[in-house]
Amino acid sequence: MKFLTPATTNPIDQLKVIGHATDRIDGPYKTTGTAPYAYEREAAYGYVVGAGIAKGRITSLDVAEARRAPGVLAVVTADSAGKLGKGKFNTAKLLGGPEIQHYHQAIALVVAQTFEQARAAAQLVKVKYSKEQGAYDLAKAKDGAKQHKDKENQDKKVGDFDGAYNAAPVRLDATYTTPDQSHAMMEPHASVASWQGDKLTLWTANQMINWSKGDMAKTLGIPEENVRLVSPYIGGGFGGKLFLRAEALLAALGAKAAGRPVKVALQRPLMINNTTHRPATIQRIRIGATREGKISAIAHESWSGDLPDGKPETAVQQTQLLYAGPNRLTRMRLAVLDLPEGNAMRAPGEAPGLMALEIAMDEMAEKLKMDPITFRIINDTTVDPAKRERKFSTRRYVDCLRMGAQRFGWDKRNPQPGKTRDGRWLVGIGMASAFRNNLVQKSAARVRLDAQGVVTVETDMTDIGTGSYTIIAQTAAEMMGVPLKQVVVRLGDSDFPVSAGSGGQWGGNSSTAGVYAACVKLRELAAQKLGLDPTVAEFAHGEVRADGRAFPLIQAAANGELVGEDAMEYGDLDKKFQQSTFGAHFVEVGVDAATGETRVRRMLAVCAAGRILNPKSARSQVIGAMTMGLGAALMEDLVVDHRAGFFVNHDLAGYEVPVHADIPHQEVIFLDETDPVSSPMKAKGVGELGICGVGAAVANAIYNATGVRVRNYPITLDKLIAKMPDF
Ligand code: MOS
Repeated sequence: MKFLTPATTNPIDQLKVIGHATDRIDGPYKTTGTAPYAYEREAAYGYVVGAGIAKGRITSLDVAEARRAPGVLAVVTADSAGKLGKGKFNTAKLLGGPEIQHYHQAIALVVAQTFEQARAAAQLVKVKYSKEQGAYDLAKAKDGAKQHKDKENQDKKVGDFDGAYNAAPVRLDATYTTPDQSHAMMEPHASVASWQGDKLTLWTANQMINWSKGDMAKTLGIPEENVRLVSPYIGGGFGGKLFLRAEALLAALGAKAAGRPVKVALQRPLMINNTTHRPATIQRIRIGATREGKISAIAHESWSGDLPDGKPETAVQQTQLLYAGPNRLTRMRLAVLDLPEGNAMRAPGEAPGLMALEIAMDEMAEKLKMDPITFRIINDTTVDPAKRERKFSTRRYVDCLRMGAQRFGWDKRNPQPGKTRDGRWLVGIGMASAFRNNLVQKSAARVRLDAQGVVTVETDMTDIGTGSYTIIAQTAAEMMGVPLKQVVVRLGDSDFPVSAGSGGQWGGNSSTAGVYAACVKLRELAAQKLGLDPTVAEFAHGEVRADGRAFPLIQAAANGELVGEDAMEYGDLDKKFQQSTFGAHFVEVGVDAATGETRVRRMLAVCAAGRILNPKSARSQVIGAMTMGLGAALMEDLVVDHRAGFFVNHDLAGYEVPVHADIPHQEVIFLDETDPVSSPMKAKGVGELGICGVGAAVANAIYNATGVRVRNYPITLDKLIAKMPDF
């Protein structure tokens, strides 16, 4: 099915199941410990050995003693693995050696009967290196950074930025930094591999089944049809499980070498340097405006680093679309750094980009002596500022700002910083905008109706804790006119039709649209079986009705199961319209006047993201994202050892993320909206929108509380205390 023109009224609009706050159908399995995660399967144990240098070569790798250790079944190294191909998505090799491309790059897997044996034997692997000095410091590498070759990463210029900026009566020129960050999901990267002859089955934790199936086949040099990936439950990903990673490849190689199934979970202390992370950025923002607050010139430049063949962090993305202004410049420069691989983490681009831009907007409003919300409203745009004929499909950004201001009590905020006290606490309120583009991806599904009236959906879509199972069940229930409990959803298996997968907040809308397409097929089959005109048949209350006649749906499958399979595909609607999601974050903080400790007291997000398919799971997505945004504002920071080239705090003791005690009252409001351009579901994504802007809202609240402007995240005590007002 092709989605080429904006959606009109369709069966989803019945809203009997869709749009209702619905408990997760997978909840009971998770809370009773019966949902099988990737690692929970009998197999021999693999333990990964990571490189002890960041750059250079292995000169000798002696595994003889490890091989002789008790219980050891096999040792895999680049030598023993033979020639490996390279997948599409990995910048560095998943099994390193003799060249080492980054610290903790996997160089060996030790397989043994027990985990303890594998771990003990891994300590007996003797490695000698010849070490080279790499580049590890973004600030130092910045001047040598270059433009990336891809079209979307080129400089974008509209009008004459320099001229307009120099002529502007009110100007801001400020530089902000965001640190390297880690996904730090609960479940480590984990896989169990089992070979049946030359066919591989891999139970794994992966967001994008089809990408990783392809990459596994390429890396092993075997046909794609010989690889099956199974990933029904995933304990978080945030972008860290978008791609095939070392543990999956090593499990496959280990299982081959040991001649039996092998399981590998990346050890937590290895995860951060072995896998991907969100790259640090340096961002310079310049804004010029009239005295009345109209932006006349806006420039956003961002520097980030990655391994050779890597890509820039696209932190300037939102600045191309969020505010009006005739003269514009965005620019990204990429430095080669020999740190672990940088890649997507929840809202890549916008999350760090808005951490900078939305402080800049706060600073600019202050220069203009203008309320920061008013300043944003004045500079709203209904069209893409670079291509003015291109409208947003929907854009209720100003409604988010106004609704948030009213609900949060913005009018009670003292615009004078450092003036509100509550005992020892300096209290402040801040806000920031949320923006994230909405992507759509082709997605397929298969839907069965059996003689018991059970509707079963099969698609390789994943649920990384987001609620995919539930919204897919809701979609099928709505389309087929059956109650939710009559729907079974089977996900995360490469034997099922290829879905959009979980990434870029496209999964919710795209995967349910694929289920919609398959249900349209199934409805046609069912109507035909019942002798009804499929073009007018209505499906509701377990019945199919047309032309004044009604039959139980179950009757359509009385003589055998009916199966509908299709994909939703997209044309060029996204070229005619700009599809984005919008929001506003409001934060109240207390900053300890004596210590500079920040406690967030209240948070509110108002989101406009098309139809909200399940307000309950969508809210969970947004409060999770707000929590992550708070972490980015105050805590998260991969500390780089600039001599040795690795992230020092590479475990959950050293890499700080918020805990329950850090999180205050959170409120989420979804504006009532449908986007007919996004898909027949009229939905968009919220999972990434929710983090966008949170960091800056916290930073702006801290400024309002203390009068101290911190432009380098995370905003830790040391950055505040010296500049705090006397108390
Ligand atoms: Mo997302 S960072 O594309 O999982």
